[in-house]
Amino acid sequence: MIYAVIMSGGLGSRFWPKSRKGLPKQFLKIIGQKTMIENTVDRISTIIPRENIYVVTNQNYVGIIKKLLGFDNKNIFKEPLNKETASCIGLAAVKLLKKDFEATMVVLPSDHLIIGQEEFEQTIKRAIDVAQDGDYLVTMGVAPTRPEIGYGYIEVGDKIQDNVFRVKRFIEKPNLDVATSFIEKGNFLWNSGMFVWRADRLLREIKKYLPDLYKNLMRIYEYIGTEDEEKVIKEEYEKIDGISIDFGVMQRTHRAVVIPTNFVWDDIGSFTSLERFLSKDENGNIIQNCEAAVMDVKNTTIMGDKRLVAAIGIKDMLIIDTDDVILVCPKDRAQSIKDLVKKISSSE
Ligand code: GDD
Ligand code: MG
Repeated sequence: MIYAVIMSGGLGSRFWPKSRKGLPKQFLKIIGQKTMIENTVDRISTIIPRENIYVVTNQNYVGIIKKLLGFDNKNIFKEPLNKETASCIGLAAVKLLKKDFEATMVVLPSDHLIIGQEEFEQTIKRAIDVAQDGDYLVTMGVAPTRPEIGYGYIEVGDKIQDNVFRVKRFIEKPNLDVATSFIEKGNFLWNSGMFVWRADRLLREIKKYLPDLYKNLMRIYEYIGTEDEEKVIKEEYEKIDGISIDFGVMQRTHRAVVIPTNFVWDDIGSFTSLERFLSKDENGNIIQNCEAAVMDVKNTTIMGDKRLVAAIGIKDMLIIDTDDVILVCPKDRAQSIKDLVKKISSSE
């Protein structure tokens, strides 16, 4: 059977202070009327029935997920700690395998913008076809438009089937020089962060490349469905060294293939990437959710809350106002917001 596994435990700290520990990016209405996680479920539910859609999340977000999605406990895999995506996906794999030995997982991040439902459906269906026989880890690649350092890059190798290519190399989050050289070479795609594979195939790859995590997952597998399940998950999670699926498995495996996509895709990982989807005034300013009194202000993004925001004589800045925090930051430093959040303890 085919299952969707939506990863929804990240903190989304590059959107701070709009996103907070209690309300990360996937639970915000970044664009449009619905939150990003609701859009994610809507998008996949035309292919996979809702009863087969699972969300993996931190136990702190269970309440908000139930409220937003109307899911009950059965469709929520709870994590006691954030140990990044390898364990998140590994946990979902063992939970699914316990009930279905032939489970195929469509792994989706919960915080992406995608435009082009029909193209999205076609790509996912094709990926399911390729993944179902169990040989391949299927990625979906997006044609890059800039040397973005927040993404993984896929060097496209030989064609193995119609519109399916071997992944020659997978390079997670390269530095700017390397990313620029990939764009110049032209035979690279961005990793969209969506994956399709059989749960048993993924676990075999985890066994090979992350043997400690594999042991943790096997102990969890033993206890699934017993009254000690939650206790054992907690014990094992405490031992896990967090690593992403990209660094842990995708950079190392020889079984990755890529399907190039043709829908509009963006991680909207930060305020600056959000800008590409919002309209600007004649001075290049974006002013959202607030009144702003600006004079000689250029190429600046102001996201307000309740107050009037006033600014004079600035350019290329971000001003983000919330109930209790104001962030002021030059746009070219937006990637550092994540580091600032790490540094301060008041990020709640
Ligand atoms: N349940 C759970 N637990 N979910 C998590 C955890 C965790 O510990 N950590 C992250 N997530 C969720 C996030 O909420 C998000 O939906 C998804 O997993 C991906 O995590 P990110 O932290 O957003 O990853 P990234 O954007 O830095 O990088 C990944 O996505 C890029 C494209 O958006 C990589 O796969 C890159 O290669 C890729 O290009
Ligand atoms: Mg992301």
